Amino acid sequence: MHVVLLSGSPAARSRTEVLLDHVRQRLHAQRVEVTLLRVRDFPAEELLHAHFDSPSARHLQALVASADGLVVGTPVYKASFSGALKVVLDLLPERALAHKVVLPLASGGSPAHLLAVDYALKPVLAALKAQEMLSGVYAVDRQIAYPEAGRPAQIADELRERLDEALDQLQAALARRPQPLDPNLLNDRLVNARWSI
Ligand SMILES: Cc1cc2nc3c(=O)[nH]c(=O)nc-3n(C[C@H](O)[C@H](O)[C@H](O)COP(=O)(O)O)c2cc1C
Repeated sequence: MHVVLLSGSPAARSRTEVLLDHVRQRLHAQRVEVTLLRVRDFPAEELLHAHFDSPSARHLQALVASADGLVVGTPVYKASFSGALKVVLDLLPERALAHKVVLPLASGGSPAHLLAVDYALKPVLAALKAQEMLSGVYAVDRQIAYPEAGRPAQIADELRERLDEALDQLQAALARRPQPLDPNLLNDRLVNARWSI
């Protein structure tokens, strides 16, 4: 299993990334291969001009194509997801999330923008044909403390519980995802079927 984590925060010190780091650790402990991509690691020029064929866009497209699942994390910016995340998602081909399980995460300063996940982020992920979209987790800033003075990042218990529950759902959805048939196995089955007719 391979899951891509995509951070939509342009900030170097990011609460979204605290959430994604928790996700990374949990999935890693369950022997899931995890790759983290950050919007701020993409060359700004390539994003601004939507260079679909740039090396960073190709890398993103290949990683997403090879993934079984995607966890997309974003800060809330102006009642929506970050613009930086949008320009990265724009680099993906039309059906990039077909056959994939997607878990959206967002952190905002206020609980008032909780629905940004449902009304802003999910429609874009659905347009990319996400096969199964999990309900998502919204966090508010006071539930996440940055790592400081040697102390690791802190996630409030209530948020951690919701996050872990969402990760259990992600694992379950990944496990029931239909696996592509091995071509050799398919060949064997066809040969045996012919003999049994
Ligand atoms: C430009 C900007 C716009 C923001 N707009 C909102 C907003 O509309 N609603 C909200 O709840 N929080 C808003 N916030 C707060 C961030 O969503 C919040 O602090 C978030 O946790 C930041 O995530 P990050 O640390 O991963 O960047 C905004 C922050 C910035 C910098």
